[in-house]
Amino acid sequence: MKVAVLGAAGGIGQALALLLKNRLPAGSELSLYDIAPVTPGVAVDLSHIPTDVAIKGFCGEDPTPALVGADVVLISAGVARKPGMDRSDLFNINAGIVKNLVEKCAATCPKALIGIITNPVNTTVAIAAEVLKKAGVYDKRRLFGVTTLDVIRAETFVAAAKGLNIDKVRVNVIGGHSGVTILPLLSQIEGASFTAEEVAAMTKRIQNAGTEVVEAKAGGGSATLSMGQAACRFGLSLIKGLQGEANVVECAYVEGNGEHATFFAQPVLLGKNGVETVLDYGKLSAFEQEAMEGMLATLKADIQLGVDFVK
Ligand SMILES: NC(=O)c1ccc[n+]([C@@H]2O[C@H](COP(=O)([O-])OP(=O)(O)OC[C@H]3O[C@@H](n4cnc5c(N)ncnc54)[C@H](O)[C@@H]3O)[C@@H](O)[C@H]2O)c1
Repeated sequence: MKVAVLGAAGGIGQALALLLKNRLPAGSELSLYDIAPVTPGVAVDLSHIPTDVAIKGFCGEDPTPALVGADVVLISAGVARKPGMDRSDLFNINAGIVKNLVEKCAATCPKALIGIITNPVNTTVAIAAEVLKKAGVYDKRRLFGVTTLDVIRAETFVAAAKGLNIDKVRVNVIGGHSGVTILPLLSQIEGASFTAEEVAAMTKRIQNAGTEVVEAKAGGGSATLSMGQAACRFGLSLIKGLQGEANVVECAYVEGNGEHATFFAQPVLLGKNGVETVLDYGKLSAFEQEAMEGMLATLKADIQLGVDFVK
């Protein structure tokens, strides 16, 4: 398996590359690309870690050499939030970066599974889809917005609040990846019950957890280390699916059956072609149903922004 990380010299990219160097299956290849000239050096640095994962770094304007033969491409290239910004403030810069990088993926590794980390994910995934359609290589099973950070935050916060074993807690988070579009399904967590006040407070904390980090870093960026961990978990799940492992399930922002919006984060079964099956996320509580309906106008507008950007 060959995994390419685009934006690999950044906060997320370096953390992700470190984790993948340690956790990819033996015999894998890791390819790092960033416009920053330090990137080949990041790869040399990581190459001294004794694991059976070959690693190469590339910099400059053209990501093509990093993409040749890639099975999975994880994109975190772009700018991150500063205090006072929300994810949509990143649109003007990051939209163009994602568009250019996905054009190169379409030309060089059209069958790769592409995971978009760059914010605003609700919109950048729609941009990626339009670019792939224009190139005639779009396969909705192979494009993902990485929302795993919302999932690991939900799992961490719920385990701590309810005294549960963190290794056993699984939380589905559906919708999108910003503000009210992030909807953790707290009503479905085995072994945990919440009062109405607890549900409201926990949902809000998960939705605003990114801002918690942005403010704590005081101008130094947004979540990078926890995002690296989240992207590593998601990337490894994509690979397990590609290698034919059974029952690999993750929540991700994908083009599903369009019931709510063209793209919607939901649990998916991963396999040899990416999404094998979009899974039913089960019955929503009254609170969740209302939150889901309330988010749809925002989510649809975010998606339309991406479609219009490419058109
Ligand atoms: N999906 C999520 O849950 C989530 C969570 C946190 C952050 N993010 C997003 O991830 C992105 C990266 O965050 P970060 O903290 O790593 O930022 P960062 O500034 O530390 O790193 C971004 C990297 O992208 C590189 N870059 C910029 N333009 C590029 C291009 N055209 N080609 C290749 N590389 C390019 C930069 O040189 C830099 O190394 C941001 O958009 C951020 O909002 C997403």
